[in-house]
Amino acid sequence: MSKVTVVGAGKYGSTTAQRVAEADIVDEVVMTDIVEGLPQGLALDMNESRPIVRFRTKVVGTNDYADTAGSDVVVITAGLPRKPGMSRMDLLEVNAKIVRDVTDKIVAHSPDAVIIVVTNPLDQMTTLAAEVSGFPRRRVMGQAGMLDSARMAHFIAEKTGADILSVRAITLGSHGPTMVPVPSLCSVDGKPLTEVLSKEEIDEIVERTRKGGAEIVGLLKTGSAYFAPSAAAAAMVRAVVLDTKETMPVCAWVEGQYGVSDVYLGVPAKLGAAGVEEIVEFDLTDEEMAALREAADAVKEKVATLDSLEG
Ligand code: NAI
Ligand code: 2OP
Repeated sequence: MSKVTVVGAGKYGSTTAQRVAEADIVDEVVMTDIVEGLPQGLALDMNESRPIVRFRTKVVGTNDYADTAGSDVVVITAGLPRKPGMSRMDLLEVNAKIVRDVTDKIVAHSPDAVIIVVTNPLDQMTTLAAEVSGFPRRRVMGQAGMLDSARMAHFIAEKTGADILSVRAITLGSHGPTMVPVPSLCSVDGKPLTEVLSKEEIDEIVERTRKGGAEIVGLLKTGSAYFAPSAAAAAMVRAVVLDTKETMPVCAWVEGQYGVSDVYLGVPAKLGAAGVEEIVEFDLTDEEMAALREAADAVKEKVATLDSLEG
């Protein structure tokens, strides 16, 4: 039986479960949360949509990890968003405890799973899940690049008036200030972006993409984005479950590619049943390459902060 578990039944988790279930590519989607009744209620609601949307995947809501046993893929969305008066360090500490605890439980019940982390701060939480799980690094990855690239594509489509489906965009690096949008690999209707927009227009899009998450938080006032984020996580789940070998920008363990080593970093990677099956090395400009290496250094520094926290 094919099975995907989503840990955390909040905004991101519930919409991811819904998208994966509606894709009808697995037998079961399990949603789990610490709040009693929440995953059960959402699962019942999703199951009742099945005859209308027309999918067969069964959604199971639970507070018991025994129900997650034997999952092929586990998406970790559990964690707190920042609250007033909370520092980044407080958030890091709280979410690190949650991710550590959740990863232990996942590993005990699904020793062969591929883990996709989305909890923020993304780069640190992905590193932590990999360390705690003891899984081969190819079986632990983070979601950020798919979302940030989609945001960039949207901004390009808005600026150029082009059909969104004819826009190709990609971001690498970290999910934060050292995100590396890559204009040299972006295109509109097959034409290089650099021939379609001016440098000033591209710079504006790059800046808006880097701050894409904050723009939505500012509008929503409470909580963060989840429609595009869940679409991104669901696309990664699909690539693993169906073993598609699609190349996607994901937070993956890098060992020498792009001149960078021993760090979780946003890079293009081929995803399949084994997880990250290959890191793909695209040609980058010198400036983009330097920005990617800077991002790697920044992530390493942030991970050192994580190491200073108690286990
Ligand atoms: P939310 O507050 O709606 O949901 C979080 C859920 O986690 C809650 O239902 C809570 O009860 C649950 N939870 C807390 N501790 C738990 C535990 N130990 N075990 C199981 N469940 C637990 O937040 P939302 O919007 O779903 O976001 C979740 C995370 O995803 C946040 O850290 C957010 O910053 C991050 N995020 C990451 C993005 C990315 O691109 N990587 C994009 C958007 C959000
Ligand atoms: C986002 O980019 C907050 O990471 C979250 O929407």
